[in-house]
Parts: sequence; structure tokens; C-alpha cells
Amino acid sequence: GVTRKYDFHVTRAQLAPDGYLRDMIVVNGQFPGPLIEANWGDWVEVTVTSNITGPDEGTTIHWHGLLQKGTPFYDGVPGISQCPIAPRESFTYRFRADHVGTSFYHSHYSAQINAGVVGPIVFHGPKSQKWDYDVGPVLVTDWFHKEYFRIVQGVVGSGTDRRPAFSDNNLINGKMNFDCSLADRDRPCVSNAGVSKFRLKPGKDNLLRIINGGSAGLQYFSVDEHEMTVISVDFVPIQPYRTNFITLGAGQRSDVIIHGKRGKLANRAYWMRSNISTMCALPRQPYGLAALYYSEEDAKMEIKPSSHPQQYNITRLGCNNEPLTVTKPLHRKPVQKPHRTITINVQDTLNATGSDEYLMNNQTFRVNYNAPILKAVTEGNASQPYEPLWNAYETGSGKRVIRIVWENQKVDPTNPNFYNVTFAHPMHLHGHDFQVLAAGAGSWDGSVATNALRRDTHILPPNGHLVVQFETDNPGVWPFHCHVAWHASAGLSISILERLSDVVRIPGTAHVMSQTCEAWDAWSKDN
Ligand code: C2O
Repeated sequence: GVTRKYDFHVTRAQLAPDGYLRDMIVVNGQFPGPLIEANWGDWVEVTVTSNITGPDEGTTIHWHGLLQKGTPFYDGVPGISQCPIAPRESFTYRFRADHVGTSFYHSHYSAQINAGVVGPIVFHGPKSQKWDYDVGPVLVTDWFHKEYFRIVQGVVGSGTDRRPAFSDNNLINGKMNFDCSLADRDRPCVSNAGVSKFRLKPGKDNLLRIINGGSAGLQYFSVDEHEMTVISVDFVPIQPYRTNFITLGAGQRSDVIIHGKRGKLANRAYWMRSNISTMCALPRQPYGLAALYYSEEDAKMEIKPSSHPQQYNITRLGCNNEPLTVTKPLHRKPVQKPHRTITINVQDTLNATGSDEYLMNNQTFRVNYNAPILKAVTEGNASQPYEPLWNAYETGSGKRVIRIVWENQKVDPTNPNFYNVTFAHPMHLHGHDFQVLAAGAGSWDGSVATNALRRDTHILPPNGHLVVQFETDNPGVWPFHCHVAWHASAGLSISILERLSDVVRIPGTAHVMSQTCEAWDAWSKDN
């Protein structure tokens, strides 16, 4: 196939996406980062040069939702699939466009995604599309005016230093208005900085590729006075259904078709809205707006939509995704009996020093940036405390079916170190699209969805359960973690070692490991 090449320069920058000037880390000076576009089956080659200096820090870029079959070392997770890219170093990722649809890339280094290292990915399929016009990516990000490391410090801080992570705004394709009188620090700020604009074709089927690339908030997305037909979630085509709103947890995507209005109704502008749930996150300003218009002339003018918001009731959903009876895959895949079932109990606790910490079956996630797990296992040397690490079958002799039952419930109501509430966790597995067998309140009753949805991220609801299943068809080390940046920072992540005996034979691993780790070791010795 063809190779699509991109050059990414990751640097610090001061930008004001919503009018409030903040310190960011961005790709090629822009937020959101540049679009990566390819046809299914192409190779994508991205050379990432890191210039995050003053202060210096590392970076990696993860290509969210891609399978990375045969290239687990290009998955972009520091401490798992590579060492971080040191400042002033370059690293070239090369992987297959192995899916069709919409996704995004983001830094996987600490909570650096929140600093602005995020951008859309579109992989085009064979020309049998169900739409007339591709409007392109609609990247929704909750927005924080504080620098990410301060927020992480606050979240995992102890005692009176512990601070919840409130978001300040909600952006669509990197824009939204902000009322500067609400800013809590005295920094340059311009009110009414403006919103993004999207043009639809009248009377046509317009495709919108909606991405939640934010750090925390669960988003409810809708378009005033227009219904949508949802045709895929994450990278998986679903049985199309009509709705007036969709849910998107951090890391989730939906492709939707909007039928364009005609005549007089196409002579005006409408609001596109993304609202952060106040029930499931901590937004100071939960509303994200963008303008939608039809005519060429409007593109040049300042657009002032006035339109009626969709009415929908979200309390029924709680902090969960749409029920599995609503989102059914287009192509059915039978639910097999698992060879192995792993039950994981998630606890939000305070550790011995009083910091917030997530435990999965009593272990919290630990990572060593200088010694990625992939390196350790290929060198036959996984003796370090890589926790929690589940070995999903040693041998490559045939695919096995692994079922994972996530439980998100307070197990000991008398223990003062356990929180009384549990939160929603959009759980993301690398290297796979899992089948979603069940997701809901309370404990799992053992029943399995008929025609189970497949996707790469699904919400584990508060006080509830999430049951997923996948085949070991992809030797590698794959994180399965909460996509809320602050929860991952507090340890809500596990690693799955898939088919060890095949992992050690993947060509190129040793080369990639030494490439990134030598530079990182040298850099970390001097810093
Ligand atoms: Cu988009 Cu491990 O994440």
C-alpha cells in the first residue's frame, strides 16, 4: 500500500483557544493538532520530534483505537510499548490504517493530552459510503485553564492539597467563547473569542465525525432542530438508528449523518451543542457550542444562530452510554464461551499518605518509564513490579477468548478510606475492539446482550459493572485503562500481556526499544 507521511513537532506554546491565554503543549503549533488522513490498508508514518523544553519533559503519541497488529512497539504508551521520546529527539511511528472510520491521536505521557497534544484521525473506506458529503471531524474537548501537572498534583495530592479537577470550558474543534470575568487567575483573556463553524449541504446526507478527545467529561452531543442517524461507534459500524442526542465518554467516537434542510430552513444557522454532564463530572462551564450553516455567503460573515435546543432526558441513562439494545453492530459476531474470565474490582481509595489512588483487586498501576514492559518481556526479564499485569495465555497455539468483568462498587462501606461514591470510567482497551456483553447498575446478573456491540471504549458506570470479551489475536502488551486523564494518573490502568511466546518473536521490538530507551536513559541521567 501507499505510505502517508507526517511530520509532528511537539513544543510548548502559549495559545488562547477560548480567549484565555494558557501554557499548552501542541503539535506543529496548532490546537487541535493536524488531521491524519489515509485510506484503509495504507501505511501511516509519523515522525515525532519532541521539543518540549523549559521545563523539559518527555512525550509519546498514541494512535487511539488502532490495532497495531505486529507493531505493538508503535502503540505509543510510555513504560509499556516504548520509552518516552526525550526532548530534542525524534522517533518515527509506522503502522497500518487497519480500520475504517474516525478516531484521534493523543499524548499518552502522564496527562499531557490535557495540555493540547491531540488531533483527529480519519481512515476512508471503499467507496460504498452512505453519505453525500463529509463534513469532517468534530473534536470535542473539555477545557481546563490550569496546566495539567498542577491538576494531576491536586488530584493525587494528599490532605488539604487534594483538589478536584474542575473544567473551565468546553471546546468544539478548539474554539468556544469564554466570559473572562469568570477567570480565576489574572492572565490575558479576551471574551467572546468565537466558535467553530461547520457547513452542511442543503438536502444532502452530511457526515459528522464526532470525537470526545477531552480529559474527563461525559459529553451529550446534539444539533438544534436536526435529528441524526448514528452509523458507527468508535471504529465499528452499527445498525443505523435515529436520535436527537448521543453520549460520548472520553475516548469515544460516533459517526452520524445529518440530513440537510432545504429552502428557507437552509437559509439560516443552527447551534451544534456538546454538554458535559454535571451529574458525572465537574464542569464550571459545561456548554460547548459551534455554528452550523448552509450557504457559501454565510462562511464569510459572522454567524449568529438562534435555534431551539433538543429536548432529551439523560437521568434515565445515569452516567452510562446508550443501552446495548440501541447500539447494535451491523455485522453480528456470536458470543463465545470464554476460556478465561478475569474479574476486576475497582476501588477509589486514599493510600497510606492520604493520596487518591485507584486499586484493581488491591493493586494500583505502576509504571517505569525507563523499562517498558514490552522491553522487559522480550528480554525475558519481567521481574520488576509491573502491576497489575495479567498474562492472558502464554502460548500462541490458537486464539483464546478472554472475558473481563469490571466491578465498580464500594466493597467496604465501613472503611473510611474508601469513597462513598464511585465515578463513571470510560474504559479503553488497546489493540482490540472488545465485545460489550453487559454494562449497567449493580452487579452483573450473568446475562449477555444479544448481538453484542463491539468498540474500543465503553463506560463502566458508577456503582455498576462492565463485561467485555476479546480474542487473543494480537500478541503484545495492551493497556486497559480509564480514559479520564485524572483517573489514569491515580492508577486506574491494567496491562494485558497477550501470548508471551509470540510477543518475544515480533521482529523489530529490540530495535525500537533501544532506539527510544538509550536516548531517554541518557536524558534522565542529566535531569
Ligand atoms: Cu486514547 Cu490508552 O488511550
